[in-house]
Amino acid sequence: MAGVGFSRRRRVVSRGDLTVTAPESGERAVRQAAADAMANAYAPYSGFAVGAALLAEDGRVFSGCNVENASYPAGICAERAALAGAVAQGAREFSLLVVCTLADHPTPPCGVCRQAIAEFAPAVEVVSVARGGEESRWSMAALLPEPFTPACLKHA
Ligand code: THU
Repeated sequence: MAGVGFSRRRRVVSRGDLTVTAPESGERAVRQAAADAMANAYAPYSGFAVGAALLAEDGRVFSGCNVENASYPAGICAERAALAGAVAQGAREFSLLVVCTLADHPTPPCGVCRQAIAEFAPAVEVVSVARGGEESRWSMAALLPEPFTPACLKHA
């Protein structure tokens, strides 16, 4: 099965191919990239499609979707998929993360994703958009007030 079915047309927004210049259009573009990525989610086991998109400080937008696996723990969340793609293309600073699902209410990034995002973007703004358009907005600091940071690794 190739992902969860969506009737909407599949738009191609591959990682890093979208550059945002006007700040006011920035969030709209990131939201669109997250929604487009959600349409490509591979979630045959949970049936829960997630799209995520990160706005890098240089204006590039990087998106990802959840990619599940028959060996369940081998799956990856949309947020970390977007982050990995961004880092692979040289982006390490981000100002916005948009998460998109078809859930009844906005869903925050899972704990593992919060930790992964905090490594690069401790001050990122997180927006989550649900099926009916309801949305929530959090700071990373609110989502993960005590992150494990590189400084924690210091020892004598
Ligand atoms: N999932 C995400 O992609 N992001 C989250 O923050 C929470 C959960 C995915 C993982 C799995 O494929 C499905 O949603 C159900 O947990």
